[in-house]
Amino acid sequence: MLEKFVMTDITALKSELATMIEAANDLQSLDAARVAALGKKGRITDLMKTLGGMDPETRKTTGQALNALKDEIAGLIARQESALKKQEMAGRLAGESVDITLSPRPEKRGRIHPISQTVEELTAIFADMGFTVAEGPDIEDDFHNFTALNFPPGHPAREMQDTFFLNSGELLRTHTSSVQIRHMESHKPPHKFICFGRTYRSDYDMTHTPMFHQIEGLMIDKDVNMGHLKGCLLDFVRAFFGIDDLPLRFRPSFFPFVEPGAEVDIGCSREGGGLKIGAGGDWLEIGGCGIVHPNVLKNCGIDPNEYQGFAFGMGIERMAMLKYGIPDLRTFFEPDVRWLDHYGFDPLSRPNNATGQ
Ligand code: PHE
Repeated sequence: MLEKFVMTDITALKSELATMIEAANDLQSLDAARVAALGKKGRITDLMKTLGGMDPETRKTTGQALNALKDEIAGLIARQESALKKQEMAGRLAGESVDITLSPRPEKRGRIHPISQTVEELTAIFADMGFTVAEGPDIEDDFHNFTALNFPPGHPAREMQDTFFLNSGELLRTHTSSVQIRHMESHKPPHKFICFGRTYRSDYDMTHTPMFHQIEGLMIDKDVNMGHLKGCLLDFVRAFFGIDDLPLRFRPSFFPFVEPGAEVDIGCSREGGGLKIGAGGDWLEIGGCGIVHPNVLKNCGIDPNEYQGFAFGMGIERMAMLKYGIPDLRTFFEPDVRWLDHYGFDPLSRPNNATGQ
């Protein structure tokens, strides 16, 4: 009688638990079903506890039946679990896929990188002053990067620039001054051009990255002097920063390819911990410049008694950081769209400070 009762009970329980397991539509409810069936206080466990009170014969058959039920239920749970996991993965894959057939939405339009924007601004300003644009290669030889620029072999000034040398015996240019040489070699004076480009030095911190950009300017004619250089740079910084009375000063400095040479500072104030460009009693370095050394002209086949002129070089990231308040140089080259959304420029807007010709 008892046996009969228990067997009926087991069959009913089996279908009840099976329904519960099949109805579990996520891993959490499946686990609740597992606890309700097989947990310490689960239905099957409860029945197991009644075995002790049975006569040996009934205990044997009921025990076998209960063990079979337990295995069957555990099997159902395992099957449901793997089905749910598969389903979850399929859902995740579908959710994370990219529909490449979607048309671009206007609010998702790309942004112009601050380097590109700044290059456009610089070009517009120097073009207004009559400078053309020259180009040169990133991979240079020792002659164009150093020797022709009056860095004699073994000269300590070569060590100032942490050069990347290539196995081929070439190097990654450490400055855009190499373009001065290339242009003077292939064109006749007078010269009046700027050039932009990537430059490379083995250096990495808040204000240095192994690759960065420079703008270089060169003007060579029969009657060019330091006054022209200073006037040119003064006009340039005032136009670039949009500050009409921005002060500029030259601080004597050494570069092998110019004599005299200077570092260029613009006025700023650091009151209250913030940096503000403008007349403020303090100074900030933005680049180097000077009168082209006679040896450099000679190396390019130009007679220094007939021609002379000036050269200047500045870091483009530095100009962009100062103008647009970008604190860390390294972020320029981390491809982070959130950064570009914030610091980038609308592709349809005109570069600032272009004088509109
Ligand atoms: N080439 C120099 C540098 O990278 C900058 C410079 C250019 C200085 C032209 C003087 C004249 O440090």
